[in-house]
This record gives sequence, C-alpha cells and structure tokens, in this order.
Amino acid sequence: MVLDRKKVLLGISGSISAYKGCEVVRELQRKGAEVRVTLTPSAEQFIGRLTFKALTEYDVLTGWMDGETGLEHITWARWSDAFVIAPASANTIAKIRYGIADNFLTSVALAYDKPLVIAPAMNTKMYENPATVENIKILKERGHIFVEPEEGILACGEEGKGRLAEPESIVTAVMHSVFPKPLKNKKVVVTAGGTREFLDPIRYISNASSGQLGYELAKFSYVLGGDVTLISAPTCLKTPYGVKRINVTSAEDMLRETLKEFENADILIMNAAVADFSPKEYSSKKLKKKEEEPIIHLKRNKDILLEVGKRKKSNQIIVGFAAESENLIQNAEDKLRRKNLDVIVGNYLDVFSKGKHRGIILFNNGEILEIPEMTKEESAFYILKNLFLKNHEG
Ligand code: CTP
Repeated sequence: MVLDRKKVLLGISGSISAYKGCEVVRELQRKGAEVRVTLTPSAEQFIGRLTFKALTEYDVLTGWMDGETGLEHITWARWSDAFVIAPASANTIAKIRYGIADNFLTSVALAYDKPLVIAPAMNTKMYENPATVENIKILKERGHIFVEPEEGILACGEEGKGRLAEPESIVTAVMHSVFPKPLKNKKVVVTAGGTREFLDPIRYISNASSGQLGYELAKFSYVLGGDVTLISAPTCLKTPYGVKRINVTSAEDMLRETLKEFENADILIMNAAVADFSPKEYSSKKLKKKEEEPIIHLKRNKDILLEVGKRKKSNQIIVGFAAESENLIQNAEDKLRRKNLDVIVGNYLDVFSKGKHRGIILFNNGEILEIPEMTKEESAFYILKNLFLKNHEG
C-alpha cells in the first residue's frame, strides 16, 4: 500500500470538526500507515480519547507531561514520518508560530524538525483576522504545508471560508510531506476520462472510461512535487487536492487544450480515452426519431499523442497508454514508436470490470516492467514511482 511502513502522528485541536479526525485516521490506515493521535485539552471537549485509542491501539496523549516517562513529546516526534494537525485551531496555529509548548500537541510540534501539515478550521472572521493571516504566512515561510479550509456553512451558522478540508485532501497533503519531490519545478499535464462526441444537445458517443486512473496519476504527480494540470473529460470524480483542472468535453476540445498546455510542460501523461471518431454532423436541435433506421456518419479525430509527439522537444517526456484485448506488448511497442513516446503503459482489459488495474510499463529503451493487479490508486503510485522515484529514497 502507498503508505506502508509510514508512521503518521495526527494532532487534533479544539474545533467542532475534531470528529473528522476519525476519518483522517481511517483514511491513513487504509493506505497502510501506522497512526498515533494527540488531542489538545480543548479537542477533548469535542471528542474522547477512547475513540482514538480504539482506532489506533495507542494511548492518546493530551497534557504535555502525559505518558509514562514525560519524554514522549520527544520520542513521538522522532517516531513520526509525518505530523499532521487537523483540525488546527487559530489558537494552536498561533502557539506553533511562537513556539509555545503548553500541551502535548504543541510540545511535539516544537520538537519536530520536518515540515508539518496543517489543516486549519475556524470561523471565517478568525481565519481572516490579520493575526491568523500573519501566523499562517510565517509558518508557510518556514516550509510548513497548509491544507486550505473550504468555503461553506460553518458550525456557527455563518457562511464563508473556514471549514476543515476533506479528509482525502488532508491525507494527500500528508503523502506530499512524506515522499521525495522528484517532480519539483516540473509542469506535469495529465489527461483523463472518456471524451463525449455529441450528435445533438443531449445524445453523445463515448466510452466506459471512469477517469479514475488518470485522476490518481494527477494526484500522485502532485504528491511527488509536480505543478499539475489535469485536463479532464466529463467524470464524476473530485479534483485531487493540489491539482489544477481544465474541463473539456470532446476530442477536439481535448486536442486544443492539450496542445496549449504541452507547450511549456515538462511531462505529459496522456491517460484520456479519446474518441477516435466523432459524428460528421451535429444537430443543434434534438433529433426526432423517424420510421427508417438512422445512419450516423463518423469522421476521424486527430490522434492527440501523434500531434504532441511531432512537437516534442528534447527535454519533454511523453507517457502514453494502450488498452488492448490481445498482443499487449507488441501493440504497445508499436504505439510507442509510432507516436514518438518515452514510455507507454499497456493495460490488460481483463481486470477493468473489477475496478482494478494490471499491465506493463514499456520504456523506449526496450525495458519492460510488469504492473501486478492492484487498485488504480496503487497502480498510479507504482507507475510514477518507477518513472520518477527510482533514484530517490521511497
Ligand atoms: N489517443 C490520443 N488521441 C486519440 C486517440 C488516442 O491521444 N484520438 C491516445 C490515448 O490517450 C492513449 C493512446 O493514444 O494514450 C492509445 O490509445 P488507444 O485507443 O489504445 O490507441 P489508438 O492509437 O487509438 O489505437 P487502436 O485504436 O488501434 O488500439
């Protein structure tokens, strides 16, 4: 799993959203992490220690001298590969800025020498108060990672920015803090989803792509430090945390946006299932059924990979995909050469219905790597790890 053997400390401070800490713990554990929790005394007013002890099987520490030896704020800081504070109240953020260590959470924060992941949650006025704004600015300058709160209706009934980010976003930021950043300062463009080729305002030709693998590839490109743009055909998926998304519908839109974004990109990961054909004619009015069976005339769409392959500069990397029912290696190799790619990922279609992924990675030097059957999330991480993390500690 992605966070196997990683140790994550979750600090929870006083906010009504303290209960969301349970989801953060679960999400981290689902990804293979070992998790410990510290609650501030105010957080304990909102949620009990026992909840987290039951979830993590570790004692939950609160007061700064809690624990058997009184040195736990040091040993827990050493133990952690990542330290995430979610929710982080205005008060806790202020204390961390000034190095105040008056409870277990803030004491570990002071003893922790790596970037913290901080997910604020508070009333909008508190979030926008110049004191909080300055505290956050300074902590960012010290290299700490902030997971922006979301806008919405807050517990106090007011509407605005201050709601704790989604657990999924918080966990993505934790992964970002844990792994090396081989894609730092690199613009990564990822395409995903199946394009729609409309016949009339409500009918279209498309394919069964869910876009999930592409979204996971975008997420992990951010985790590994990339500046990521996701060009997405329609899907029901949420934009991954840290990723900029451009929405497109048809193969023609996808071609236009990909060519534009590719110009100053370092890496293109072309995962979208682009329609090879689209209807020759589009009716702006809904087509009415007639007695005779309709015939749809199709025209060939441009192959986007072929077009970007022609424009590729020596410092640009293109990763293509090939979904095949048979002769996977041979077909993938042919597409790699024909489209001037650096790498192609070949997908076996047999596990798609299970929502899983299995395939091969074929490099342009002839090297082939097997992708064993795994979830699309794990597979996306496996692909990027093998492309960009080989020379880094993982
Ligand atoms: N692709 C593209 N533009 C298209 C069609 C496909 O850029 N109009 C890209 C896909 O994003 C994928 C790769 O080409 O990265 C392979 O797509 P696939 O449909 O498997 O291959 P085709 O080249 O269309 O070949 P075939 O249909 O013969 O398998």
